[in-house]
Amino acid sequence: MRVLVVGSGGREHALCWALSASPLLSKLWCAPGNPGIAALAETVPIEVMDVAGLVAFALAQSVDLVVPGPEAPLVAGLTDAMEEAGIACCGPSRAAAAMEGSKSFTKELADAAAIPTAAWERFDDAEAARAFIRRRGAPIVVKADGLAAGKGVVVAATEAEALAAIDAMMQARSFGEAGASVVIEECLEGEEVSLFALCDGTEAIALGAAQDHKRVGDGDIGPNTGGMGAYAPTPVLADADLAAAMDVFVRPALAEMARRGTPFRGILFAGLMHTAQGFKLIEYNVRFGDPECQVLMLRLKSDLLAALLAACQGELGHFDLRWHEDAALAVVMAARGYPADPLTGTPIQALERAAAVPGAQVFHAGTRAVDGQILAAGGRVLTVCGSGARLAEAQRVAYQAVDTIDWPGGFCRRDIGWRALARGG
Ligand code: AMP
Ligand code: GLY
Repeated sequence: MRVLVVGSGGREHALCWALSASPLLSKLWCAPGNPGIAALAETVPIEVMDVAGLVAFALAQSVDLVVPGPEAPLVAGLTDAMEEAGIACCGPSRAAAAMEGSKSFTKELADAAAIPTAAWERFDDAEAARAFIRRRGAPIVVKADGLAAGKGVVVAATEAEALAAIDAMMQARSFGEAGASVVIEECLEGEEVSLFALCDGTEAIALGAAQDHKRVGDGDIGPNTGGMGAYAPTPVLADADLAAAMDVFVRPALAEMARRGTPFRGILFAGLMHTAQGFKLIEYNVRFGDPECQVLMLRLKSDLLAALLAACQGELGHFDLRWHEDAALAVVMAARGYPADPLTGTPIQALERAAAVPGAQVFHAGTRAVDGQILAAGGRVLTVCGSGARLAEAQRVAYQAVDTIDWPGGFCRRDIGWRALARGG
């Protein structure tokens, strides 16, 4: 199989790492990739949103399978364009990617499929949205309806904060057209957990559950980020409870999407809140999380490529995946100043020493190679992972690897996994 991975983060590095182990693989490319990925795949300088460029490349190289990492090209129709060219692509069509691309689509789908979720309403009119907020009071959650790079959600503790979010989204259009309409919903309280599934349009198999840490600082304080670390398994949604969660949050959504003539294929990521009334859906994403993907790939024992092919061929009903019992934990190393203003260009040394720590894996994200030297080139720069029989061991391995890396320009959280470890992980 000739495979093209699309993306350039730690998630895509982990996907390339897992795909590289497949006996079915004959050639691996990654567009645009990063210096870590370049050790496993031939990197191609095509940006993820250059759908026409990706299709032309895949045709020219007789690619058999495209594996997209991020959501934006899926929402822009990457899968549709590849399929028109006769190339299999393990992601949803543009129509099915609306499960992530539009918050109101997700909420309406959840209601239609009887999937538990926070009560909600959609507004196109700022005045009506304000009136609703004043009527309901705080805490309340305001979401830009469209894609806003993970930043279009305000969990407002006060009415004033919620009203300010309406001004920013609907009037100042701080997220452009994504804020032309908003979803306002009930604020859920509890612990968050993410459920991942591989879907073929009708059938789905669980890829595991993971928890991430969105805030930049230890103890879950400070601004939101793309994710500062993740781990699996998680006590909130244990491996033994995955099957039940699939029946509530994945299968009914697939059935409803299929009924509408827009079947969902690819990776479905259900963000859940474990509330006092049980799990409730927060959102769907149509891709792996980053850094959740890194820990899921460390735990996967089966051939990822065979599984993705089965999904594309509609054959997951006859498929099964095997997992390592070990826990996996990922620590994101970010450039100083992240998320507001990451400092780029700083040199990173001793990465080989980190990779040599037994049980450790280092995935690149925002790195750049200049004259054989690795430099920071983004906000989240590395994902340093550890595996171990228990979560505490996985954490120890990950931080041992982190501590061998010589990078004064970077930082990381020191408490990844704390919630699970506090429960005896
Ligand atoms: P989303 O982009 O929908 O995942 O929202 C981003 C984050 O906002 C989630 O990961 C939650 O932490 C939080 N969030 C979203 N919706 C709610 C809600 N209804 N109640 C509480 N927190 C929420
Ligand atoms: N780590 C959260 C995400 O990828 O959306």
